[in-house]
Amino acid sequence: MSEQRRRLLVVEDDRGLQSQLRWCFEDYEVLVAEDRESALGQLRRHEPAVVLQDLGLPPDAEGVSEGFATLEQILAMAPSTKVIVVTGHGDQHNAVKAVGLGAYDFYQKPVDTDVLQLIVDRAWQIHELELENQRLARQQAVSPLDGIVAAGPKMLQVCRIIEKVAPTTATTLVLGESGTGKELMARAIHSLSPRADRAFVAINCAAIPEALLESELFGHEKGAFTGAVRQTPGKVETADGGTLFLDEIGDMPLALQAKLLRFLQERVVERVGGREEIPVDVRVVCATNQDLDAAIREGRFREDLYYRISEITVRLPPLREREIGKLVLARILLEKAASQHRRRISGFSADAQHAIENHSWPGNVRELENKIRSAVILAEGKHVTAADLGLGDIDASPPNLNLREVRRIAETEAIRRALTLSKDNVSQAAKLLGITRPTLYDLLQKYGIQSAEKADGSSPG
Ligand SMILES: Nc1ncnc2c1ncn2[C@@H]1O[C@H](COP(=O)(O)OP(=O)(O)OP(=O)(O)O)[C@@H](O)[C@H]1O
Ligand SMILES: [Mg+2]
Repeated sequence: MSEQRRRLLVVEDDRGLQSQLRWCFEDYEVLVAEDRESALGQLRRHEPAVVLQDLGLPPDAEGVSEGFATLEQILAMAPSTKVIVVTGHGDQHNAVKAVGLGAYDFYQKPVDTDVLQLIVDRAWQIHELELENQRLARQQAVSPLDGIVAAGPKMLQVCRIIEKVAPTTATTLVLGESGTGKELMARAIHSLSPRADRAFVAINCAAIPEALLESELFGHEKGAFTGAVRQTPGKVETADGGTLFLDEIGDMPLALQAKLLRFLQERVVERVGGREEIPVDVRVVCATNQDLDAAIREGRFREDLYYRISEITVRLPPLREREIGKLVLARILLEKAASQHRRRISGFSADAQHAIENHSWPGNVRELENKIRSAVILAEGKHVTAADLGLGDIDASPPNLNLREVRRIAETEAIRRALTLSKDNVSQAAKLLGITRPTLYDLLQKYGIQSAEKADGSSPG
């Protein structure tokens, strides 16, 4: 990346200043634009790391409205760009406002080229560092297990467990909502085990009719039932020496649960209609998105089987709880999809990042993957936008600069987290927040937040 010539975009309508700047930045490939439209065009085509932008642009060369609009669009399109705004002499107010909108720095006219060079060089270095940082985060996220992105502390922990469990023969239960990567983890357990070069046999207990499941699992002898025209080994036998993956184990019918339990205890299979006991050596991995505790309470799942299959339990967090990892995962999936579809896409727009952070992702990683895949196909620019992701209606407005509103949102969020962490114990939540209990009560009232403890004592709603 650093091999490429450093690109600087100068957005300035004054011809004299344009050539002065060109001359001053001879270490850079200087691109020039005189208005918003040509600036955005240059940005799209050349992706300069640093932009030097005059706030007074035509048709409002004397004011700042066009300058601010340009700044906002540049940052929405390419959020990592370092924009340095150039304001008129003494125009501190607009300079600060620009930084509030996301500009990297400001500079006041008249131009002192030595100082400006320093500012631009530093902006460029910071941009490089940020790129390098992102690259390292991605590298670290991909490394532990092949094909699995382990971004953020929760997923790193999961991968560490997988790495430890894989070489053993411990029966492993993988739990997680739909689309969190249970099958991916089951395959990783297999491929990191000494059984990697033997079979990985998966069976989806929810997809096969109850009447057929037993024969699917354990096989049958010729003539065991109508249609059993030849002797057929089951999946368990096929997996001999390898790994048997029982997907959606929570949906296994009770009668078969007893047979599976027997297999896990004795490690022999008896084909349907057969008498022979065939010894089988398999490593068993199970997965489900069901709440097995509830299933046990409701008599749908055998408790003794549960203990058998959960020698080790791996819990995959839903995507919405992977605070740090979401965007890193999204970036990696984007890179993958872009190269698959041979599209030159360099990242997410600011509104897309915002939408990814804030969407609840009920379909978890699968949903994210699907949305990114179709966005890569639909995207018109080099950046995928929230609309490309089909998340366009999630608050796409520019960053909120009303301090009172910003404070309200931040405080509400912190209070909600403290209440969750303290299981709705108000005293404990107040302690976590570093405020007194009465102050917390005031804030709960002010922001209309319900806590279970508070609701118990007061209003019914
Ligand atoms: N950590 C991850 N890194 C990269 N890709 C992932 C990750 N987790 C899940 N995926 C991808 O998301 C998709 C869904 O994963 P998978 O099929 O393993 O989920 P699942 O939990 O088995 O879902 P379901 O309960 O619906 O069967 C797959 O395409 C998988 O490759
Ligand atoms: Mg699955």
